[in-house]
Amino acid sequence: MHYPYQIKSLSDYKIQYKKSVEEPEQFWAEVATNFTWKKHWDKVLTWDFKTPNIKWFEGAKLNITENCLDRHLITQPDVPAIIWESNDPEEHHRILTYKELHFKVCQFAHVLKNNGVKKGDRVCIYMGMIPELSIALLACARIGAIHSVVFGGFSAQAIADRLQDANAEFVITCDGAYRGAKEIPLKSVIDDALIGCKFVKRVIVCTRTRTPVSMIKGRDVWWEDEIKKVETQGNHDFPAVEMDAEDQLFILYTSGSTGKPKGVVHTCAGYMVWANYTFVNVFQYQQGQIHFCTADIGWITGHSYILYGPLSAGATSLMFEGVPTWPDAGRFWEIIEKYKVDILYTAPTAIRSLMGFGEGYIAGKDLSSIKVLGTVGEPINEEAWHWYDRNIGKEKAPIVDTWWQTETGGILISNLAGVTPAKPSYATLPLPGVQPVLVDENGKEILGNGVSGNLCMKAPWPGILRTTYGDHERCRINYFATYENLYFTGDGCLRDEDGNYRITGRVDDVLNVSGHRIGTAEIENAINMHQGIVESAVVGFPHDIKGQGIYAYVIYQGTHGDAELARKDINLTVSRMIGAIAKPDKIQFVTGLPKTRSGKIMRRILRKIAENEIGSLGDTSTLLDPAVVDEIIKGKL
Ligand code: WTA
Repeated sequence: MHYPYQIKSLSDYKIQYKKSVEEPEQFWAEVATNFTWKKHWDKVLTWDFKTPNIKWFEGAKLNITENCLDRHLITQPDVPAIIWESNDPEEHHRILTYKELHFKVCQFAHVLKNNGVKKGDRVCIYMGMIPELSIALLACARIGAIHSVVFGGFSAQAIADRLQDANAEFVITCDGAYRGAKEIPLKSVIDDALIGCKFVKRVIVCTRTRTPVSMIKGRDVWWEDEIKKVETQGNHDFPAVEMDAEDQLFILYTSGSTGKPKGVVHTCAGYMVWANYTFVNVFQYQQGQIHFCTADIGWITGHSYILYGPLSAGATSLMFEGVPTWPDAGRFWEIIEKYKVDILYTAPTAIRSLMGFGEGYIAGKDLSSIKVLGTVGEPINEEAWHWYDRNIGKEKAPIVDTWWQTETGGILISNLAGVTPAKPSYATLPLPGVQPVLVDENGKEILGNGVSGNLCMKAPWPGILRTTYGDHERCRINYFATYENLYFTGDGCLRDEDGNYRITGRVDDVLNVSGHRIGTAEIENAINMHQGIVESAVVGFPHDIKGQGIYAYVIYQGTHGDAELARKDINLTVSRMIGAIAKPDKIQFVTGLPKTRSGKIMRRILRKIAENEIGSLGDTSTLLDPAVVDEIIKGKL
């Protein structure tokens, strides 16, 4: 494949950027001509951030899987689309060429149809990182069903919340999943989730671990049996269902500062163009290269940079079932050597963790195939950046620090590998179509360079979220109401003298733990479910490997066991309500929380204490009970 829209130099970047801002419709129309459409658009862009109402390529008809699969059948049928590496280094890897992947997606689209799935239906996918997961997403897209992937680390309760919110009547899962030394009983978790979700009509179960599962007659079917039925029917092709540009493609739940996670909605055409454009430009992908994104498909990074971005570009995408530190901390380097990986895209938390194991695991591994390195999900500290550069890129591979969000669909701010300059710990410059602004507390734009503020966007790019599922008002309030006529990211940011952006972290009550977003309110709600808990307050604190750790201040009046046991009980409750990823690292029992006279918890003070910045607590005399602060400081963990 050729990418006529691939930016080739810094001056080209400047020209493209300028054009994208001055003539956005013409700019994106030109990019969009490089895709397969069933019908072209009537209007490139309609937008209004007030409501919000955002439409890209209105009137166009397409199916994203024709762009990810069918169009490559003619030009490169035998090129590997997905290379799958097992959790177990001894197990044979699997390769699916574009032809094979197309075949399997069509087959599974028939399975979905046979099981009653129709265009517009919501399908919840809770699987491990096996090729069938990719096949499941693409088959949904082919049939026009809306997929809602739930990460394998979430609990039954979290799945039930998401099933209910989207009213998903179909579930695709596995018997179990392997993750390092662990075996996760996915189907059993689904069974627990479904106790309160009687509206789920069908569960399709794919075999991976062959752990014992209960299969409920009339509701549960095996993936393999359903495939056999399609084979006997003799069905091979499955014509891609015609979708409107603005039909929903998927829902992905993400945490915000309040309430339960929101279902971020992306639509077909804009998302496709954005995932592809950013993939081709940021990583400077060249035909034939092997792209290894280490994320899980349960998160947006996997959606955009394992599946839709690479496949729509005809790339070879490496999908890894395991974890970076099992059987040992050399796993990534072994995979790079084995497949001659060109691009490695991972999270700072993984880099920091591997850094901790020392260079011994890299020694003797041939990493000379590496051309580009990438990071995503959280700020990367300079030490980790230099370690990555020196040991993995051998100071020859550009590092792209890519800033974006579930809501943005794809990368918004990043250097372009080897094309625009990198600066350690800076995401650097906005991509064409992206117009960042920094504002103060009152929403006033902060102009000039060498400044910092809250990061907003003043115009839509094709991949911006369109709504939050089932609750458009929530979308407006969360992203478009804080500052007038701006999309608010929730991140703080500084702009250096040269106009480079550096993301400094969330300014709302959202934590970023190992690159995973978790709302403090969500964790508090889970803790408060535990018997004996009167009240709790959760804040983040700096953590060497995870970036941020979870610190919970808890008023507890339980009487069952000592403090250590109580902590374990609370952790178990949080695991049940959300999942193990939300378990607090530290739980401090307190008798009161610092509150204003109107009863609002002063999180700022709690944050400072957790961060060990007791010297800068500020004035505490206006608190309802100033003495409580001293007590909390004394009891700090
Ligand atoms: C943070 C992940 C600094 C940020 C793609 C954002 C980053 C949140 C970076 C979104 C980066 C992501 N530098 N911070 N390069 N990339 N973030 O929705 O706080 O899981 O708002 O999307 O991660 O997390 P999400």
